Amino acid sequence: MQAPDRAALLASWQTRRSSGAVEDRSGVWRFRELLPFVPSGQPVVTLIEGNTPLIEAPRTSKWTGGVQLTVKHQGTNPTGSFKDLGMTACVTQAAILGCGVVACASTGNTSASMSAYAVRAGLRAAVFVPGGKVTAAKLAQALEFGATVIEIAGNFDRALELLQSLAADLNLYIVNSLNPFRLEGQKTIVFEMLEQRGWRVPDYIVVPGGNLGNVSAIGKGLCELKRWGFIDRLPRLVVTQAEGANPFYRMLAAGAAELTPITEPHTDATAIRIGNPVNWKKALRAIRATDGMCESLSDDEIFEAKAALAKDGIGCEPASATTIAGIRKLRAAGKIEAGADVVAILTGNQLKDPESALRRWSAEEMKRRLMSVAADETELRSALARILR
Ligand code: F0G
Repeated sequence: MQAPDRAALLASWQTRRSSGAVEDRSGVWRFRELLPFVPSGQPVVTLIEGNTPLIEAPRTSKWTGGVQLTVKHQGTNPTGSFKDLGMTACVTQAAILGCGVVACASTGNTSASMSAYAVRAGLRAAVFVPGGKVTAAKLAQALEFGATVIEIAGNFDRALELLQSLAADLNLYIVNSLNPFRLEGQKTIVFEMLEQRGWRVPDYIVVPGGNLGNVSAIGKGLCELKRWGFIDRLPRLVVTQAEGANPFYRMLAAGAAELTPITEPHTDATAIRIGNPVNWKKALRAIRATDGMCESLSDDEIFEAKAALAKDGIGCEPASATTIAGIRKLRAAGKIEAGADVVAILTGNQLKDPESALRRWSAEEMKRRLMSVAADETELRSALARILR
């Protein structure tokens, strides 16, 4: 692609903010010059995704050990996760190609997102999920949007493998993040975030890693912005993984040249319960290009971080909280310096998995916080007196 005219683009991206056209209101298509694959006149399949907030988190900043933290919250997207950025691009491409059926393997969010965009485009949707390992909320989304959901008695990696071996024969268009159009949509997260920051580059961007599509997309977006003169330096990219599903972390820590898959990945952060990430080579390129790092977090550390973030009134799903846990751990190890300007990408909405955090509370704590009281004023007074002292 030829280098775009920076000043003209900055001006037109700004102007589009007050436009009424859907492709201007979408936080992905507003940047369409940087994802130039849609033929002119072709309508895009959009739910006005993106436009997500960048929020200060002062208590969490302190909790992490004194960085300047903001969170870019992807949970406000139409189906509640960052997947919508990639899906608008990918399903638009499916429509351009005239595909009849789109398909994905998913830990939940991709399936919810694909199902919404597919039904909107009039395409059929088939979803392969690991049986019993997708939250009820995510499953309900895919079902309500009319997808056919197939629960596989195996993990995500196996589901994706099976889908890949069947797709050509059955004429299924795969929208997993091995599809490059997904990454094109997802890279716009950094365009929007940097625009929100007045193009001031943070020191670190921290993002959870599962199939490693998002970090690859973010790396690509950053390199393009630098190449085209929108920014003059790159932030360091940090990937955070759950300890039971951390093959990328292990590869980097060992200085290995190849990724060794984890055959039985496990973590309560079900969104990133992935042992054989298909995008590891692209992710490695992103980490190398940005002098990045990877950190690994136990489930206890992940849920502690989620609780810390809740004190700023910010909820997210467990996978997203790996970022906060990772910042604290890297800060404690001196690998992130005090006062560093850090943006954490919160990938999914709190309501995607409302119960996993509460399940970790002790019975006592739950009893203290959730009371059953008779509909009686005296009893209510005495219950409240106990807690409001
Ligand atoms: N956070 C959330 C909430 C996710 O749903 C995912 C991936 C990730 C982080 C990791 O992103 O795969 O690009 O490294 N979820 C996929 C799914 C696998 O099927 O919904 P990644």
